[in-house]
Amino acid sequence: MTLSRDSARLSRRAEQLKASSTLAVTARVRELKAAGVDVIAFGAGEPDFDTPQPIKQAAIDAMLDGATRYSPIPGTPEARKVIAEKLNRENGIRCSPEDIVITTGGKHALYLAAQAVIDDGDEVIIPTPGWVSYVPIVQLCGGVPVEVPASVDNDFRITPEQLERAITPRTRAMIFNSPSNPCGTTYEPNHVRALAEVLARHEQIMLFSDEIYEKLIYADFAHLSPGSIESIADRVITLNGLSKAYAMTGWRIGYACAPAGGKDDNPLAKAMARLQGQMTTHIASFGYAAIVEALSNGAEAVESMRRTFARRAERMYALVSAMPGFKCPRPTGAFYIFIDVSDHFGRTSPGGKRIESGLTFAGALLEEANVAVVPGEDFGEGCDKNIRLSFACSDENIDEGCRRIDDWLGMLS
Ligand SMILES: Cc1ncc(COP(=O)(O)O)c(C=O)c1O
Repeated sequence: MTLSRDSARLSRRAEQLKASSTLAVTARVRELKAAGVDVIAFGAGEPDFDTPQPIKQAAIDAMLDGATRYSPIPGTPEARKVIAEKLNRENGIRCSPEDIVITTGGKHALYLAAQAVIDDGDEVIIPTPGWVSYVPIVQLCGGVPVEVPASVDNDFRITPEQLERAITPRTRAMIFNSPSNPCGTTYEPNHVRALAEVLARHEQIMLFSDEIYEKLIYADFAHLSPGSIESIADRVITLNGLSKAYAMTGWRIGYACAPAGGKDDNPLAKAMARLQGQMTTHIASFGYAAIVEALSNGAEAVESMRRTFARRAERMYALVSAMPGFKCPRPTGAFYIFIDVSDHFGRTSPGGKRIESGLTFAGALLEEANVAVVPGEDFGEGCDKNIRLSFACSDENIDEGCRRIDDWLGMLS
């Protein structure tokens, strides 16, 4: 049967949902590479390392041992216990295995949290520049995203005063992300405490704390989880996963922790599990063994990758901060540098393209210098001045890509 024009009509929700610009760049890079073009890719949002061997082996063993059937929806008791122990030990979050829901990636952990908390018309505060999926996820839940722009002069951290001003009686939640994608900057413990003080005064607000990059910090301060701050702890849903720290982006393993505040019942974790039960059911059953192995024995592998990223962060920052008209903070976390390139707006590229936004800058750079970067447009209002570079690639690629960018900038007229 063929669909009539009318039955092929898309829902408003589907029609309004934007495809991510990150994926558009990836698709174009793939096309150019397939055509034999030597592209340097600074667009990637994933580690260039392979998953550590013992983690793979744990999943293989589990699969051979029969972990191929349905599991409990929020995850196996053992995997939930290991996650709860990690959050207590490393993050100071007081929680139990019943507070944990294991999800298909960090993205779905946020989606479940948002579905469980947000009603139509509820406002959700999103500091920007922020990850491309925050606004669409809030909108898919019927919520109203309220962007709070952080300044490059404050290392892209919003201030407590900005947060206070953004809160209205309709504010239901805030999304917090440190270290940040796309900024590559990190909130220090005193900044986190200052924001928590504001939230403590507004009891209707839940905090979704996206800590997917917590292991990748290159500064001399430690990560502070908002969920460890007592005044707000029972209103924080901590979101994390194995994708970035353990080089496991393709495995699709994330988790949410919604502490019940010492109460026996945990309606929030149960609601997220109910939602997951009607959506994805759970992760692949052999993934639970990988979680147990990663969180029990993976610390050394993570630290070795972190050290490599720290070195690359310095290398790329030294190169790009010396380029004319580039303004960016020193990266202290994740694997990104977010650069304001607006000094070059109004100029013309060697290929004859007029540069007037991050999008036109990134487009011309890719076609003419064969360097892929992500335009800032989708990271929030005002981010069209920016481009994002990822240093999740080899030293040689960092050097060669930056040389090409520098040469290309020299040819702008
Ligand atoms: C800030 C942030 N949160 C969450 C995620 C989602 O990670 P996952 O691949 O586990 O869904 C990403 C991935 O790019 C991210 O950058």
